[in-house]
Amino acid sequence: MIVCEALCKSFGTVDAVREVSMKVPDGTFLGLLGPNGAGKTTLMRMMTGLLMPDAGTVSFDGKVMDRNAVEVKQAIGITSQHINLDKELTVEENMEFAGRLYRMDKGDIAAATDRLLAFLGLDGVRTRVAQNLSGGMKRKLMIAKSLIHDPQYLFLDEPTVGIDPNARRDIWDFLRLQHKEGKTILLTTHYIEEAEQLCDQVMLIDGGKIFRENTPEGLIAEIGSFKVEYDGGEKRRSEFFPTLAEARARAAGMDVLCNVGKSTLEDVFFHYTSKEVGGWR
Ligand SMILES: Nc1ncnc2c1ncn2[C@@H]1O[C@H](COP(=O)(O)OP(=O)(O)OP(=O)(O)O)[C@@H](O)[C@H]1O
Ligand SMILES: [Mg+2]
Repeated sequence: MIVCEALCKSFGTVDAVREVSMKVPDGTFLGLLGPNGAGKTTLMRMMTGLLMPDAGTVSFDGKVMDRNAVEVKQAIGITSQHINLDKELTVEENMEFAGRLYRMDKGDIAAATDRLLAFLGLDGVRTRVAQNLSGGMKRKLMIAKSLIHDPQYLFLDEPTVGIDPNARRDIWDFLRLQHKEGKTILLTTHYIEEAEQLCDQVMLIDGGKIFRENTPEGLIAEIGSFKVEYDGGEKRRSEFFPTLAEARARAAGMDVLCNVGKSTLEDVFFHYTSKEVGGWR
């Protein structure tokens, strides 16, 4: 179990993360969903020991994360938001280098490399230098590297940003498999569909604060599982209802064209970000 208690981090006058407390039980696939500048990366960097909090603590199974927490860090794999491959090294060499950082022996590195590259469809490019990989392949290699030491916890900061839908689906399938095998996964994203597809728990974050946490279905039920959408002049408007019957009744009483449908996680997001926390920045 990961426990964060009252984590805070400011950069000058910007409060990037404000008193975030959370618990992540083992085996959870947690999505941190929030707009640009919400504090997702800062929170994740503190959780993984890459950035010291101004206040608050992070612990993994009761062991506190700090700069010297070697044992804790051994149990963590991290895929950062920005591409950080050794671009002049080949795919294989990138994997070997990552394995050596964890003091793995040659045989273990080779076995993990074979397995991960096969799973991620990178077998055919083992000897290609990283800078000549496509964007999707680079992201896949970053994920493979973060798993070389078979960590229990996997942290992914926007793992599919800027790649095509096919590569994204491959990565989603791979992450589902990792989750099924029992890993605890934390993912940040601003792709709402990504959180909806993968995560069993979602936290909505903005302005450095987590303002909602639930299952995707639970978040949808909180606003109302059914919606009536209509043209409200300048923009599309939605009203939410707990039952289909109520949504239909509302639609029947309206004198403009409208659609009745199921609410989505995207509706949840816009509902809160436009009303409670002042919208996207
Ligand atoms: N090293 C830094 N120095 C100064 N300000 C920073 C630094 N890192 C983050 N910030 C600021 O802290 C806030 C939160 O940034 P953060 O990168 O955590 O957001 P994010 O949710 O990851 O955004 P994005 O979706 O764009 O990646 C932003 O206002 C950002 O400008
Ligand atoms: Mg970020």
